[in-house]
Amino acid sequence: MKQTILVTGGAGYIGSHTCVELLASGYDIVVVDNFSNSKPAVLDRVGQISGQEFPWYEIDVRDRAALARVFGKHRFSGVLHCAGVKSIAEAQRDPLKYYQHNLEASLTLLEEMAERGLKRLVFSSSATVYGECTQIPYREESPLKPNTVYGRSKMVVEDVLHDLASADESWRIAILRYFNPVGAHPSGLIGEDPNGTPNNLMPYICQVAVGKQAELAIFGHDYPTPDGTGVRDYLHVADLAEGHVRALDYLGRETGLVTFNLGTGRGYSVLEVVRAFEHASGRAIPFRYAPRRSGDLASYYADTSRAANTLDWRAKRSLGEMCADAWRWQSKNPGGYA
Ligand SMILES: NC(=O)c1ccc[n+]([C@@H]2O[C@H](COP(=O)([O-])OP(=O)(O)OC[C@H]3O[C@@H](n4cnc5c(N)ncnc54)[C@H](O)[C@@H]3O)[C@@H](O)[C@H]2O)c1
Repeated sequence: MKQTILVTGGAGYIGSHTCVELLASGYDIVVVDNFSNSKPAVLDRVGQISGQEFPWYEIDVRDRAALARVFGKHRFSGVLHCAGVKSIAEAQRDPLKYYQHNLEASLTLLEEMAERGLKRLVFSSSATVYGECTQIPYREESPLKPNTVYGRSKMVVEDVLHDLASADESWRIAILRYFNPVGAHPSGLIGEDPNGTPNNLMPYICQVAVGKQAELAIFGHDYPTPDGTGVRDYLHVADLAEGHVRALDYLGRETGLVTFNLGTGRGYSVLEVVRAFEHASGRAIPFRYAPRRSGDLASYYADTSRAANTLDWRAKRSLGEMCADAWRWQSKNPGGYA
């Protein structure tokens, strides 16, 4: 019997790549998404890549009655909770929206799951929960000092999950702390399609490459890093998607709550990413240096040994593949899914 996984936010960047990986790994899926930051066309493309059809529903996870209807129609073995809002800058301007949205979506989903006796959950968390922790590489036990509203909204949900797992030992929960997912499916059919001006480095570089943005602003080039620009742990979104499947498999065997860093375990500077992208695309990426942004850290990357030892998961794809796949997606879809 195939297991059916509910994927919230399954039309989003990470959700869509994970849906492809779940289908390829023999899971059935059902997607719920309110399409606030994605389009239904994404799900057609997931179907195209996978050669499989699957049900999806346009609902807001915060709508308990709508969620209950979906739970009433399917028998789920687990839930992958990717739905949420994720702009660090917007969260600083509108903290209530971020706490309200990310908390209410998670609480509503957890209540429905608890009522149905479904207690297997993979949660999309973020390396931003570590914030100003000075211990690099970040380990899962490193202190949590998020320096942004967005990071704190993730930390609060993590706290809720810990409390839940302490109160009821039959929950099976994996908290996945993503580092910096980039790239796209190698088919070029799905990828990252941000609304408006991109907030993240790779989609911004992609838009410079296709002429949608004039140049890249590199925020800070006086950091204590080898070339002065910020260093982050970029990982291929397909590797990240595989990590979700490994975590779900693991929760099929084990109870309790466990947290995993998902990254490559090494950092690349902004300039290294720009150079790798130029190499992969054959396009020049004009850039200028701009002042540091407040809250940005010089350098961080993951200690990924727990995911390696427990899940037998490692990010395999190189920076060159991340750039080549991001470029294939962008050049085949210069206007995104529109
Ligand atoms: N992309 C990253 O760099 C990154 C890093 C760390 C953590 N995360 C987290 O991973 C998750 C997925 O991120 P992503 O990059 O795929 O973002 P995304 O915006 O591309 O995907 C989120 C999806 O959830 C949907 N959604 C949002 N609120 C919803 C709601 N209330 N009900 C139903 N659907 C809703 C959106 O329409 C979108 O399709 C988010 O929780 C995000 O905070 C992302």
